[in-house]
Amino acid sequence: MKENSALKIAPLIGLARGVVLDIGPGSGEWIGLFDKEKVIKIYGVEPNTDHHEGLRRKIKLEGLSDIYEIVPVGAEDLGSKWIQEGEADTIITVQCLCSVDNPKTMIGSLYGYLKPGGQWIVYEHVITHAGGLIALYQWAIDFVWPYFLGGCSITRDSGKWLREAGTWHKVDLRQPEGEPSYMVLPHVTGILTK
Ligand SMILES: C[S@@+](CC[C@H](N)C(=O)[O-])C[C@H]1O[C@@H](n2cnc3c(N)ncnc32)[C@H](O)[C@@H]1O
Repeated sequence: MKENSALKIAPLIGLARGVVLDIGPGSGEWIGLFDKEKVIKIYGVEPNTDHHEGLRRKIKLEGLSDIYEIVPVGAEDLGSKWIQEGEADTIITVQCLCSVDNPKTMIGSLYGYLKPGGQWIVYEHVITHAGGLIALYQWAIDFVWPYFLGGCSITRDSGKWLREAGTWHKVDLRQPEGEPSYMVLPHVTGILTK
């Protein structure tokens, strides 16, 4: 499953350009996928300090020390210390919105940091829209899932919340190719352009 996700995530990260807000990078599993020709500066917004040592190691390993800066706060608390509103060319949320305490608030505050023409790159698992037994099954799993997976919820409607965050010039969000509609852990992926 991890390998499958990697195949879907890799081309997305390669699209990041300019000033990037990498939200919830964890220990940096995907940061080697940035195209160094395209990115100028990356802010890795990671509030969980337990991940910072691993993230630092990965930054060094991938030769990103000059451009990748760890920001040790929750994305909703970014303020203006590191980056100003309207300054980001790219925001990335990969397998992150499922673990955030207030995803709607966070999405709303991040929207302001994106400049017009900026892109929000997304790969998240989301609530099923299949209904019936699948929905019931997903809901039952979600009852216990967060206790074992660090607060991660599988019933978030992140695609909808992103669409509703503000005005978008273009929205290209979909379920990844090859995922059946009846999947209990469906994803939403793609790009929203401001
Ligand atoms: C499931 S992990 C995914 C890590 C990484 N994106 C990956 O795909 O391997 C979710 C990450 O989101 C981070 N996170 C949780 N709340 C956050 C917040 N308010 N702002 C930014 N990141 C947050 C967690 O600390 C964690 O590193």
